[in-house]
Amino acid sequence: MKSKLLRISVLILLYVIPGISCTKRVEIDRTREKFVNSLLSKMTLEEKIGQMTLYTSGWDVTGPVLNASYRKDILTGRCGNLFNAHTVSYNRELQKIAVENTRLKIPLLFGYDVIHGYKTIFPVPLAEACSWDLELIEKSARLAAKEAASAGLNWTFAPMVDIARDPRWGRVTEGAGEDPYLGGLIAAARTRGFQGDSLSDPLTLAACVKHFAAYGAAEGGRDYGTVDMSERTLREVYLPPYHAAVKAGAATVMSSFNELFGSPATGSRFLLYQVLRKEWGFHGLVVTDYTSINEMVNHGYSMDEKQAGEQALTAGVDMDMQGGVYQNYLVQLVKEGKITESLIDQAVIRVLNLKYDLGLFDDPYRYLDDQREKDNTFSIEMMAHSLDIAQKSIVLLRNEPFNGARQLPLSPAVRRIALIGPLADNRIDMLGTWHAAGDETHVVTVLEGLKKAVSESQIIYTKGCETFGEDRAGFANAIRAASNADLVILAIGENYGQSGEAASRSILGLPGVQQELLEKIVATGKPVVVLLMAGRPLVIPWMAQHVPAILNTSHLGTRAGDAIADVLTGKYNPSGKLTMSFPQNEGQIPVYYSMKNTGRPLDPANKYTSKYLDIPNEPLYEFGYGLSYTSFKYSDLKLSSKQISMADTLTVTVEVTNTGFAAGEEVVQLYIRDLVGSVTRPVKELKGFKKLMLQDGETLSVKFTLSAGDLRFYTADLTYAAEPGKFRVMVGGSSVKCLEGGFELVK
Ligand code: GLC
Repeated sequence: MKSKLLRISVLILLYVIPGISCTKRVEIDRTREKFVNSLLSKMTLEEKIGQMTLYTSGWDVTGPVLNASYRKDILTGRCGNLFNAHTVSYNRELQKIAVENTRLKIPLLFGYDVIHGYKTIFPVPLAEACSWDLELIEKSARLAAKEAASAGLNWTFAPMVDIARDPRWGRVTEGAGEDPYLGGLIAAARTRGFQGDSLSDPLTLAACVKHFAAYGAAEGGRDYGTVDMSERTLREVYLPPYHAAVKAGAATVMSSFNELFGSPATGSRFLLYQVLRKEWGFHGLVVTDYTSINEMVNHGYSMDEKQAGEQALTAGVDMDMQGGVYQNYLVQLVKEGKITESLIDQAVIRVLNLKYDLGLFDDPYRYLDDQREKDNTFSIEMMAHSLDIAQKSIVLLRNEPFNGARQLPLSPAVRRIALIGPLADNRIDMLGTWHAAGDETHVVTVLEGLKKAVSESQIIYTKGCETFGEDRAGFANAIRAASNADLVILAIGENYGQSGEAASRSILGLPGVQQELLEKIVATGKPVVVLLMAGRPLVIPWMAQHVPAILNTSHLGTRAGDAIADVLTGKYNPSGKLTMSFPQNEGQIPVYYSMKNTGRPLDPANKYTSKYLDIPNEPLYEFGYGLSYTSFKYSDLKLSSKQISMADTLTVTVEVTNTGFAAGEEVVQLYIRDLVGSVTRPVKELKGFKKLMLQDGETLSVKFTLSAGDLRFYTADLTYAAEPGKFRVMVGGSSVKCLEGGFELVK
């Protein structure tokens, strides 16, 4: 009787509250809540723990084969989720085991690292970020999800949004670079792209924002290394992109390998409860990184895996990736009273909620359609986008006159081209790191792209050397080819395994003997164009001095060769801008644009100021830098007022003119500097940008608005607020060359 009365009173309350949306919203939640709670009530403790367990499926040399042990684990409900299993046929076989042969028929989640494409591969994320084109970046994620979901997947371990300011760390290639403002916008765009408007849409994937948190700040750039920083730096620099992804609706979060503030992220109640749940209101699923619960023993944070399991669950981890810790110890921990079953129930509810939202309970075979798989793999749409985003990800670093003429775009007078280098006729390395099920047989190499683009020219191709090792046997042929050509195009850099996970490098020059090859080719006296293909900023001071034209192409994916050919011939005018600084050398790391001024800022005339004896303070190429085949002039920077109150908005306008002879896109960037704060502030912070196309001779007026909200930071007592005071405004085509103005913020 009592519960009925309660239910009636709840219903009355609902109808008293005006607006169908409130009732409707509660009904939707209540429907899912009712379904999930009812299912939970039927589950044994072992079955609950099975839903908190994620294992990789096994593979043999010819393709996916189910490891015998997982078949048994799925059957017994001990494993409710898999990753690295894909294709409709394989996943249908697995799903059938779960939904037709287990006691409760709970569908499996299928996760995979769809980072920058599934089979059709787009540029590595750090390259794609250089497009500064948020719509296109979102489209990459949306199309990657479409192709991957059509292959039976429903969850991706992406976007990776770790801020990175140390190019020794190989995983910089997976993120969006050094800046929290741009990184946050890109994190949100990728999250929206993967998830679309509804998780139950069979062409979308649940996103998983990673690696939470601050994994990119590993000491020495050594992967998995210790991370230690102030809470202010964490909140100001490293957390914003994760928060942006959560605000964009990310369904899941992955805890990172590293420690922070002395506790491994996977056991950090500060990160997984205080920040993620309490401050950000995240209700989704937290999954660990690969065996990161087990690794809490190595960290010296847990006596054994059993204690690690207790710590991880208590901190807020819902699912154990590959570690088997939950599977092996949670029953015992409940029996010993060290954890409660209600804590387990909370985690299981989040897993079941995700499966519900993905539509898997409605139709467990929802993502398994053979025709859709055929239609959406390597589709015309996918291949067209792969070219479009690749073109826009290329950054022109240098295009100096050589013998009185600029080498790019290629002149029709160039009849004989020597194409040299280990990445010139290379398929697999164009896919870059984390290329999922990328199929290199579909890759367009530089040689193939160039042949199509300059068919009337003669192209002499020779490899010259590898991206690794000491073999110089190919040098002679390379030098001969260069000597007989009008121009040399040199495709050099890193192979896909020299960046990404577990690929930190202490020396960031060209690997192997490529630098020697470069210098010998330049010594022939022929004009040289370098295609720099690496997963990270490299240390290239010699190249920057001696090579007239350098295109930073990074690893551009399936249509790499076509995109590069389009830029070389001028069919596409390069518009990319760097999102991570190129250091002068390794000793300069960390180097990034939003440094602090210090008490003794550089003064070349004064020995006792902050500088090096052997290199300048500036990076070789700065954040926001990138050239075009045309040129742009900035003028008439105007601020709508000299003073604004906390409630006002400041309008900033600038005139941008295309002063060259070709149409081109420019990324107009807006930075601020807070001159005095209750804590020291960076000399520059990106607060806005606009990418626009200008025809030759065209002038456009570009407008930005700034309000007190844009000027907030973590003040002396860590409150997030704007403080009255003087500010500088800087607008330009990079973080260095800017027009400046000033205003004051008053109470
Ligand atoms: C890896 C990576 C993580 C990835 C996971 C599953 O170790 O750190 O980014 O999503 O394992 O492959």
